[in-house]
Amino acid sequence: MSYQVVPNADSQLNRPSGIAVYPGTFDPITNGHVDIVKRSLRMFDQVIVALAVNTEKKPLFPLEERVALVEQCFTANSNVTVDTTDGLTVDYAVQQNACAIVRGLRAVSDFDYEFQLALINRKLERRVQTVFLMTGLRWIYISSSIIKNAARHGGDISGMVPAHVLAALKEKYTESK
Ligand code: COA
Repeated sequence: MSYQVVPNADSQLNRPSGIAVYPGTFDPITNGHVDIVKRSLRMFDQVIVALAVNTEKKPLFPLEERVALVEQCFTANSNVTVDTTDGLTVDYAVQQNACAIVRGLRAVSDFDYEFQLALINRKLERRVQTVFLMTGLRWIYISSSIIKNAARHGGDISGMVPAHVLAALKEKYTESK
């Protein structure tokens, strides 16, 4: 039996571009995020790390600092760019000619929210696919909040964030004392 791929209205719109957008707050970027970017580069030619300007969160690091911390992680990767976006992520992805949005999944607890986000994004813009990567086992328990919390109380978070992020966190919490 042979199967035929039937063209539909979508097929015209779904041309892969090799560009993916990895959106988030990145307050601050962690080794878990870095791992997702590096693994995305095995699938996509270019990854744009897009920092959300208008997040419901109250970030510890101002936007410019968050951008600088992300940029420092990828100075050796010319196929990673860092940008900011203040609208819908799917609109940004289309503007950038990206074919996909990458999201990391750490645990079942992430699934409901991520599923909802992926569905609304698909409803808003069918040309952009959401691609989920399972977070590496080593980073499964990490989140930006948990790291900030540990750092605030003087916990040892080395190995969970890049060295320059560790230094920035130390500085931030020393400043505020
Ligand atoms: N390693 C470490 N931590 C990870 C991780 C990984 N691999 N994957 C997720 N996380 C953590 C993050 O550190 C973050 O932790 P925090 O909550 O303690 O800060 C949490 O998981 C999720 O954050 P993030 O991935 O940065 O997503 P977000 O929820 O902060 O941001 C947006 C979501 C910005 C992508 C989404 O709201 C968005 O697209 N907004 C723009 C408007 C829009 O288009 N909305 C959707 C349609 S209405």
